[in-house]
Amino acid sequence: MANRKPLIAGNWKMNLTINEAVSLVNSVAEGIKDHQGMDVLVCPPFTALSAVKKALENTPICLGGQNMHWERAGAFTGEISGQMLTDVGCTHVILGHSERRLLFGESDEAVDRKISAAVKLGLTPILCVGETLAQRERGETLKILETQLTGSLAHSLKDKAIDPKLIVAYEPVWAIGTGKTASPHQAQEAHAFIRKWIRSNFGNQAAEAMRILYGGSVKPDNISELMAQQDIDGALVGGASLKADSFVGIIKNSQG
Ligand code: PGA
Repeated sequence: MANRKPLIAGNWKMNLTINEAVSLVNSVAEGIKDHQGMDVLVCPPFTALSAVKKALENTPICLGGQNMHWERAGAFTGEISGQMLTDVGCTHVILGHSERRLLFGESDEAVDRKISAAVKLGLTPILCVGETLAQRERGETLKILETQLTGSLAHSLKDKAIDPKLIVAYEPVWAIGTGKTASPHQAQEAHAFIRKWIRSNFGNQAAEAMRILYGGSVKPDNISELMAQQDIDGALVGGASLKADSFVGIIKNSQG
């Protein structure tokens, strides 16, 4: 890994009550007290953001949302705006997660709008991309990644500038919640491709600075071999971020 500060992010998805969320984050904060040198982020469900923010005071752990709408406010029943995320204390937002794309029909165009809105608000977007099993088996992985990057970063491509804070998460759909992790070699190949794409569209400096996370069944016992890969700068963790011991284990083991 180059000179990029690692980031371990927990995506709690639609899990945990407010009390459970606060208790989890308190245990995580306690467990990583002596571990510095990396960024840690938790992305609770919307209902727990405010309480978790309070629990995170005086800790280095950052807070993120799992999704947002691109408009600032208005008649969008059931939606949350980026402004609402910053208001509650979020610094990051996950955008274009495969569950949003596949279960809720989110298009690259919608993800692109959300990224632009997030960047304007100073939120750090975590753009998720990744292929399904059928796409991998047809040998389409890199083509799918390219399509998702091109569509989800259309505004940045038009402006010929990318937010230097933007983070990409490579999450092969077949590895999410299945217990099947991409091999370090498979993950590295995808990460190297993403960095190359960033380099050819936004230049070497942007490519070298960009953090690219791996996501998909990350656990304490597979994180270190993933982190040993040159282009893997951290992880976006689902299931294993819901238990303090496994999330703390991932953070500790990611430091090699
Ligand atoms: P998982 O989920 O770690 O449970 O596979 C990862 C994600 O969806 O971000």
